[in-house]
Amino acid sequence: MNDIEIFLDETAIKKRVKELGRKIDLAYADLNPVVVIVLKGSFVFASDLVRTLGTPLEIEFIRCRSYGSETTSSGVVEITMDLNMSIKSRHVLLVEDIVDTGLTARYLINHLLLKNPLSLKVCSFLHKPAKTVEDVKIDFCGFEAPDRFLIGYGLDFDEKYRELPFIGFLPPDDGEQKES
Ligand code: PRP
Repeated sequence: MNDIEIFLDETAIKKRVKELGRKIDLAYADLNPVVVIVLKGSFVFASDLVRTLGTPLEIEFIRCRSYGSETTSSGVVEITMDLNMSIKSRHVLLVEDIVDTGLTARYLINHLLLKNPLSLKVCSFLHKPAKTVEDVKIDFCGFEAPDRFLIGYGLDFDEKYRELPFIGFLPPDDGEQKES
């Protein structure tokens, strides 16, 4: 792993996750939110995040994909596993690892709003403003990311690298395009 250039190391990640947790605790005290974790990418961030929270909550998963084995978004979002529980009249926090084009978050927000939650907010560990085409309000954002392909801490390239404890840049010899 020596050839992977690091964007955020474990210490920086841990510190920021804790800060986000504090903000989320304040926003959701006594509201018993449903935390909706977007698979697969956000499973690492979300599992760290929920363990910093003191407020009682419930956890749900939704799975979708917009990237195949490419480094750029296909632009077509597909839900491959929907929620099991009802979120009607519940406070919902959607947890993403990254908002890149924003297409996934926008699609999921629209999808979840149809289920009539009482409120819906978005937490994303990363936001890549240079790539964002859909205007999505990120209520809790970890870091702004540069316009380079990121891997690790749940983020993959062709299903690889999700397990890395840090966030790095895709090595130049991995993948044809490196612009996402
Ligand atoms: C990634 C990431 C976000 C989405 C962001 O998911 O986890 O959900 O892309 O990109 P966007 O803002 O351009 O839509 P991906 O579709 O790669 O699936 P994965 O989470 O299973 O890796």
